[in-house]
Amino acid sequence: MTAPRIPGRRFLHSPGPTPLPDAVLHAMGVQPMDLADPRVDANIAAVERGLKRLLHSEAAEIFLYASNGHGVWEAAIENLAAPGQVLLMPGTGHFSESWALQAEGLGRRVVRTPWREGWPIDAEAVEQALRDDRSHEVQAVLAVHTDTASGVTSDIAAIRRAIDAARHPALLVADVVASLGAAPFAMDALGVDVALGASQKGLMCPPGVGFVAVNGKALAAAQRNPAPRFYWDWERRRSEVSYRKFCGTPPQNLLFGLEAALSLLFDEGLDSAWARHARLAGAVQAAVEGWREGGRVDFFARDAASRSVSVTTIALGEGIDVDALRTRARERFQVAIAGGLGPLAGRAFRIGHLGDSNAAVILGALAGVEAALRSLGVAVGEGGVQRAVRFLAAD
Ligand SMILES: Cc1ncc(COP(=O)(O)O)c(C=O)c1O
Repeated sequence: MTAPRIPGRRFLHSPGPTPLPDAVLHAMGVQPMDLADPRVDANIAAVERGLKRLLHSEAAEIFLYASNGHGVWEAAIENLAAPGQVLLMPGTGHFSESWALQAEGLGRRVVRTPWREGWPIDAEAVEQALRDDRSHEVQAVLAVHTDTASGVTSDIAAIRRAIDAARHPALLVADVVASLGAAPFAMDALGVDVALGASQKGLMCPPGVGFVAVNGKALAAAQRNPAPRFYWDWERRRSEVSYRKFCGTPPQNLLFGLEAALSLLFDEGLDSAWARHARLAGAVQAAVEGWREGGRVDFFARDAASRSVSVTTIALGEGIDVDALRTRARERFQVAIAGGLGPLAGRAFRIGHLGDSNAAVILGALAGVEAALRSLGVAVGEGGVQRAVRFLAAD
């Protein structure tokens, strides 16, 4: 049985996967190639170059994986710490905790700094944890730049300063899964040793490609690490042969899509793409400012300055059924939004506003969400969507 046709478009506002630009869809529509076809190597080289440019890194080596974000989390853990060694996980909420559990599942020890709900990483707590680690057991600090569950972006420069102030040799690893392409990030200037991301958010591609950018210091640490590993091993992937780079067959069609998506970002200009994301996030925040006056919904992120340009997490008052809200928004108003994750499950919904988006799409999505809230009887302040319109009109 086929599903009934949806007239018009359903707006996808989960914070990943995100909508695909037509140019990406078209680029993926090619027949697979034999591995010696020169287009395979040329495509991989273009993706590596593009990611370095996007990350603002001269120094890093790029390792690409047929994986999602959890895959590249695993790559960082496996390469940078041996079982029994220690990783420091600054608390950001759901995603720092998920990464910590993965590291513990792989036999690494994890030191956590506390998460304050609605706030970014506490850099002072990171510094203190490193000062307390007198014997320098901590191998790396694993920092989530934007926690997609809380909608909070942390200050990676402050974490670099914390590591330096503690005079600790730990490497700095940044998860830019939810921020890359949407928010400014400059790997070398920030003193980030490893940055990792995935294809399905700001990079406007389907899920399925993960990547890690690794500087010389981190590569040297990985070489010293005796942990047994194979698929994720960086050293094994340092090859000119595409089959070896991927530890097997590269996900060709996804990589053609990624090359096209990177070109779109460079054609727009990174400054323009970041400004566009900030503007659209501002429109969403303006709407939430209006809605919160009804007293039933509010920002989850307490600190306005650290509200993410990629995703806005909206806390719900007692008794509001988030599943009913998502279903209503999706099925009646054709706006797909996300629910709360981890500690926020049942307590929040999220509007993704990253990737291939514009003012009209965001206004449509906000109107659909407001209509869904109202149709379920949730009291929202008058003028949420109007505030978003005024914000965009004034900008
Ligand atoms: C910040 C962040 N890191 C890691 C992940 C894990 O990525 P994946 O779901 O592709 O495994 C996600 C997923 O949403 C994320 O938002």
